[in-house]
Amino acid sequence: MSNYNIVSVEEENKRLEQGLELTRAYIPDGKVFLAPVDTSRDGLKVLDSAASYWLSQFQASLKNPDSATLIGTDLQDRFPNPPRPGIQLQTQDITKPWPESWKSDFDYVHQSLVLFQARPKLSEVVNSIAELVKPGGWIELTEPQPDDSGSEGPVFTQFINTMRELWTLKGTPKDYASNLEGIIKDAGFVDVKSILLPVGMGAKFKKPELADASAENMVAGAKNIPITVKLIPGGVKSIPAEELEGWTERLEAELKSKGAIFPLRVVYGRKPDA
Ligand SMILES: C[S@@+](CC[C@H](N)C(=O)[O-])C[C@H]1O[C@@H](n2cnc3c(N)ncnc32)[C@H](O)[C@@H]1O
Repeated sequence: MSNYNIVSVEEENKRLEQGLELTRAYIPDGKVFLAPVDTSRDGLKVLDSAASYWLSQFQASLKNPDSATLIGTDLQDRFPNPPRPGIQLQTQDITKPWPESWKSDFDYVHQSLVLFQARPKLSEVVNSIAELVKPGGWIELTEPQPDDSGSEGPVFTQFINTMRELWTLKGTPKDYASNLEGIIKDAGFVDVKSILLPVGMGAKFKKPELADASAENMVAGAKNIPITVKLIPGGVKSIPAEELEGWTERLEAELKSKGAIFPLRVVYGRKPDA
């Protein structure tokens, strides 16, 4: 069974909503996606797996939102109550079978920042979501692909290395995002594009007026690191036990003063027409 630890429902929802707005600064034309989906078309059927607020942003980009079927799924039922108009939400674990009737049913399937949960089944999990795209439809996957150049500050480097250690403990390959393009091509998709978005954090965020907000958003997500590490017998190699106290505060200070780049890999492709 997959698990996903959060501090609180409210904080997690706020963090994800802000995070999407911040990432948007790095997508050309202020869009919320990269695949060339025709948003002027009526009757689009779209899935956002591991959903947050992305579907609302996507809905706002549609010429005729009332004609669209927009479905969001997530492991956790942290969904807004009442649901946002025009958006259906339901629980679904990405590692479990999808509804049979959803196969080849969606014009566009979008999923971001969740494949660390796929464990050794990365290809299987991506292939099952890819099956939901109808011929002629698009898939788009976004995942972190931290860089190994050693150019980041010491605390952010600890953050990246710890995340990778935690992924490895679950059986997820530490550079899993670099495998996505190959998996999508092997699944038969065409017009596949793979793009690295150099998302800045804190002092390196694109818009100086949002620099501190972006540092705080990253730290809100990193708060779980010391809590999780303390639960692992023997801890992790990347942060010595004696450095866990005050670690999140040091991360925030480093991001606000030096900043960091947290690259996101976006891979999209089209399923050939039948
Ligand atoms: C880092 S958030 C990303 C949310 C959103 N896609 C975004 O980009 O803002 C990870 C999301 O994946 C969900 N999640 C975690 N494990 C999952 C699983 N096995 N199946 C489906 N969703 C999962 C979490 O509940 C959370 O909403």
